[in-house]
Amino acid sequence: MTPVVEAKNVYKSYVRDSSPPVEVLRGVNLKVQQGEFLTITGPSGAGKSTLLHILGLIDRPTRGEVFLKGRETGKMGDRERAEMRNRMLGFVFQAHYLLPEFTALENVSIPLIIQGEKAGTAKEKARKVLEKVGLGARLHHKPVEMSGGEQQRVAVARAIVHGPELLLADEPTGNLDRETGAYLMELLLSLHKEQGMTVVMVTHNQSLASMTQRVLKLVDGQLNEGERAPTPLGA
Ligand SMILES: Nc1ncnc2c1ncn2[C@@H]1O[C@H](COP(=O)(O)OP(=O)(O)OP(=O)(O)O)[C@@H](O)[C@H]1O
Ligand SMILES: [Mg+2]
Repeated sequence: MTPVVEAKNVYKSYVRDSSPPVEVLRGVNLKVQQGEFLTITGPSGAGKSTLLHILGLIDRPTRGEVFLKGRETGKMGDRERAEMRNRMLGFVFQAHYLLPEFTALENVSIPLIIQGEKAGTAKEKARKVLEKVGLGARLHHKPVEMSGGEQQRVAVARAIVHGPELLLADEPTGNLDRETGAYLMELLLSLHKEQGMTVVMVTHNQSLASMTQRVLKLVDGQLNEGERAPTPLGA
């Protein structure tokens, strides 16, 4: 089966004027199949956000290839990449980036309006998705009028409202307390189980990572299968 997203030998260096280039990714290979829930872990500064941005067509690799549903994206122009990103991908950022002057309903409607939906239809779809993430009673609240967990649920609603093929989530629970983080994780797991959503999540949190099907660790610029739990004696 064609993977939803595939990275082939991806390198990324950041070049700054005077200092030597920082080589963050050094030959990353990854295939994500449809319906998978995959977690990427690794120390701070390992390049997890960099990799997610490259998979999400927000950034380009220095070398190597990224395929979305079998299509190589490196030779595409910025406009075509943006069009693909808007249609096929949903992104939950490390910081939520909601627009402060707009309500939850407006924040979630905006991606649809950008894609050409009429305001009325966009708002109706946004309302349904906000109800799904448990925010039916917060439709007209602005970000400052919501808790951190609620803001992050709006960010998830915004990332899925257009029905993306792949949801990329960068530390979606990073700024939340344990209980609120667990609630958000349940939401992501239910999207995966009930709608078959393909999810790639970055997290530091081992207990959240262990709830997902596959855990990869980014170390020294390369992705490795995470350590498996030891097989119990006699098993
Ligand atoms: N635009 C940039 N220019 C130069 N260096 C950068 C840039 N963005 C990131 N880096 C460097 O690349 C490395 C990887 O950054 P990245 O944000 O991908 O790490 P991360 O694994 O997501 O870390 P964290 O867990 O703290 O979020 C870091 O050393 C960072 O300083
Ligand atoms: Mg990061």
